[in-house]
Amino acid sequence: MMRCTSPSAALALGLVFVAFVSQCYGNLHVGYYNGKCWNYNAEEIVFNVVKAQFAKDPTIVAGLIRLQFHDCIVRGCDASVLLNGPKSEKTAKPNLSLRGFYVVDAAKAALEKACPGVVSCADVLNMAARSAVFLAGGKWYFVETGRRDGFVSRQSDAIAYLPSENMQVRDALHLFATRGLSKEDFVVLLGGHSVGTTHCDKFNHRLYNYHNTGKPDARMNTDMLYALKKTCPRNGKQNKHVYFSYNPKSHYRMDNSYYKQLLVNQGILEIDANIASSPLTNSIVKKLAYAPGYFESRFGPAMVNMGRIGVLTGKQGEVRRYCGAVNHHKH
Ligand code: HEM
Repeated sequence: MMRCTSPSAALALGLVFVAFVSQCYGNLHVGYYNGKCWNYNAEEIVFNVVKAQFAKDPTIVAGLIRLQFHDCIVRGCDASVLLNGPKSEKTAKPNLSLRGFYVVDAAKAALEKACPGVVSCADVLNMAARSAVFLAGGKWYFVETGRRDGFVSRQSDAIAYLPSENMQVRDALHLFATRGLSKEDFVVLLGGHSVGTTHCDKFNHRLYNYHNTGKPDARMNTDMLYALKKTCPRNGKQNKHVYFSYNPKSHYRMDNSYYKQLLVNQGILEIDANIASSPLTNSIVKKLAYAPGYFESRFGPAMVNMGRIGVLTGKQGEVRRYCGAVNHHKH
């Protein structure tokens, strides 16, 4: 196992990039790639690629943050979500709306040019998500690296383990707990929904016939209900997109307005409304909405915790050369 040394940081391009190791978790390590990619800084390479793509399309931040979640919750953070194939995780219905694969591929290609075969796709994914959080206005945090890429990606695993938008809080907490994540981690991570979009089919039942009552979900603000019904008519043929954030200025900003929205019945998905109304999580939602800087300081560490799920080491995995396919040598 790697040795952990004392903390020290370096400034690059106005951002702090880790120069020396300060933390360890199993085989994971802050600054694992220091000195492993000639004199290049692997974290900076990923950041610069994400930044360049962000300049062209700022919406990719949402895609990248969600990608880390969908990778880590299924088989652990092993880049299984990136593998192509007829029955791979990518082909599962909840994954069909994942975005940002091309950004991960571009970051990996830049790394392969600098130091071939060194940086795993699972790590690229975690570094890309961190870059996205920062570019969306969130706080910079130190990612741990040292993951290996898995060999397996199954549609059936994605279907079995990706949470449903209509999940009860109790069940979601159970799922996250089985991945080593606390109740607070869960509520903080759901703050990922402060950026990006969802689609009518994910919440239509809340608008017209909530749990067979023939009525909308009573936990919906009337103005919002009216607006959502307009975008998503009862038998609408188009599955339009809807921003999680009510405020256009915040559509792609990582801030705590998501929790403020929840407390005035403006959660879009049932799971969003559920964390505000459940006595299990309501007080955490309030704290995240009202305590200044709390969400901002907790989101990064929660992403780090999520990045620890099911990490592969040694021969359990490999460093893929291209993130969409396993290498062609004998394992
Ligand atoms: C119980 C947990 C969760 C459920 C049920 C859930 C469900 C969903 C659903 C249904 C969508 C919209 C998909 C679509 O309409 O195409 C979505 C989008 C999104 N989710 Fe989650 N999610 C959960 C947790 C998380 C976590 C932990 C994160 C990240 C830390 C996250 C980040 C995102 C982001 C950023 C989007 C927007 C993606 C985009 O605009 O492309 N979600 N989620």
